[in-house]
Amino acid sequence: MAHQRIAVIPGDGIGPEVARIGVRLLESLGLPLQLEWFDFGADRYLKDGTILPTGFMETLRRDFAAVYFGAVGDPRVPGNEHAKGILLAMRFELDLYINLRPCVLFDDRLSPLKGKGRQELRFTVFRENTEGLYTSTGGNFKKGTPDEIAQEVEINTRKGVERIIEAAFDYAEKRGLKRVCMADKANVLLFGHGLWRRVFAEVSKRHPQIQAKAMYVDALAMDLIRQPEAYDVIVTNNLFGDILTDLGAALTGGLGIAASGNIHPGQVSLFEPVHGSAPDIAGKGKANPLAMALSGAMMLEHLGHADAAARLQRAVEEQIRSGSRTPDLVPMLGGPAATTEQVGEELLKCLSSTR
Ligand code: NAD
Ligand code: IPM
Ligand code: MN
Repeated sequence: MAHQRIAVIPGDGIGPEVARIGVRLLESLGLPLQLEWFDFGADRYLKDGTILPTGFMETLRRDFAAVYFGAVGDPRVPGNEHAKGILLAMRFELDLYINLRPCVLFDDRLSPLKGKGRQELRFTVFRENTEGLYTSTGGNFKKGTPDEIAQEVEINTRKGVERIIEAAFDYAEKRGLKRVCMADKANVLLFGHGLWRRVFAEVSKRHPQIQAKAMYVDALAMDLIRQPEAYDVIVTNNLFGDILTDLGAALTGGLGIAASGNIHPGQVSLFEPVHGSAPDIAGKGKANPLAMALSGAMMLEHLGHADAAARLQRAVEEQIRSGSRTPDLVPMLGGPAATTEQVGEELLKCLSSTR
């Protein structure tokens, strides 16, 4: 098999700390992958003004199979313009319309909910990733005056809404899952979310064997705490998906182990932890590398290396079960705390012993 080229963009803060480990794990698997590093992030932006070089998207589209991404965000760039120009730009310009975020419990001890364990916590969120409130459509009028008007427009296209809903049903169907729930706010956002409701009703007719339910997002947020077992697949817009997946992470062990894919089926796609650059712990050896490792497993699956993906995921599960842990997991799993590097080393050993 020809080598698949992977662009590694570690980014800012804890991004490089966890990316180093993720890359070592991937390289240890002996697959025909060629991992190439790119230094885009706050340091590069502050040094020479580069956010992404001209032509980079085209290069990704033409020559790369995937992007393995750490995190972006830096207190020295308070406007976050480099993060928008790197991460959101890739999501938009590569048209990565599926933000796939599994909220799956790997170990009962990680659940914060009484009586809810691995059987109950295993839902997956399909977050629309190319429109909604994320397109920077809007503006300020009379900025900085008492009469200021600030407008942020939510974009919902028929095509965008339909393809993410279809992807959610398709995923459920292929995995034998029974239920798809859509989260919206159609009781208030009559135009945009009215469109979501109409399209959801249409698409669900094409999948009669799947139970389809539309819910208001506030009610769903509550119900995910009350009875998470009632959900298999959740489909929603960009902003609600962002919020619900941090909630989903908190239900399944925290941001330190929440992984995601930004996917356009059949095209170059991007895999990254749900967490950000965590400036509060950056440089301290406290970052949990498991979310990055699991994002690597999702990438391998996407690239057609299902066995290697399963091995990597099993190594992470084993690490949670009986290995050491970073401080974020100590309240759930007990102490003492280990460093990012120690956890990474153990994962590598575990992977090599399961070959
Ligand atoms: P964050 O996800 O960086 O951190 C939230 C909390 O979770 C912090 O207390 C942090 O220490 C903890 N945390 C996150 N990842 C962890 C890990 N791997 N191990 C242990 N603890 C972890 O969110 P934030 O603080 O709101 O944002 C920080 C910066 O990151 C901002 O600039 C934000 O815009 C950016 N951000 C980027 C992404 C991304 O690149 N995909 C995602 C979210 C936030
Ligand atoms: C995420 C992040 C991003 C988002 C930010 C950093 C733009 O929170 O990937 O969840 O809101 O999508
Ligand atoms: Mn987020």
